[in-house]
Amino acid sequence: MLSTARVSAGLALAALVASCSALDPKVGDVAVQCSDEDSDPQRAVDFATQIRPLMNGAPGGPRPCADCHYGSRPTHEGLDQTGLDLETLGSMRRGSRSGPVAVAGSPCKSLVMQKLRGTAPSGVRMPKGGPFWSDEQVRLMSDWIAEGAKGDDKL
Ligand code: HEC
Repeated sequence: MLSTARVSAGLALAALVASCSALDPKVGDVAVQCSDEDSDPQRAVDFATQIRPLMNGAPGGPRPCADCHYGSRPTHEGLDQTGLDLETLGSMRRGSRSGPVAVAGSPCKSLVMQKLRGTAPSGVRMPKGGPFWSDEQVRLMSDWIAEGAKGDDKL
């Protein structure tokens, strides 16, 4: 009797743990979603023409990073709270107060990818409040990092 009770308690616990890790993106989904592979090795992503415009913002597009992370803008709560200035590639490379946000060659280790996907261990998904980047736009940033996060500091 006692051992049966123990076994079923154990099973219930195991089921609970399994369901939590399936639902919690920090436990279950990160490894699945995140890949350091370049999804399109034939084509190099160009930061200046493919990513910077997304960060600057365009009508109908995702919320611009510029609204909160560009030093030259009148308000920049993201910069103020974390030290992360995304206005140039050089300032993005300097990272935030917690360290680098784009680790060349490893999208999975890059905080900026975790923030774009909403899988970072703390804070909210970026761009804060949305609209968020489409899967395709997120893939562009991931591929650019996988390809070595190349580009001039001035971009
Ligand atoms: C509405 C304002 C706002 C917008 C727009 C925004 N951010 Fe942020 N960002 C913040 C704030 C506030 C924080 C700190 C709190 C948090 O992490 O949730 C932050 C934190 C971050 C961090 C984590 C830095 C660290 O060291 O913790 C990254 C990376 C980041 N943002 C990237 C971006 C990118 C990339 C974009 C554009 C796609 C963007 N943000 C758009 C406000 C914003």
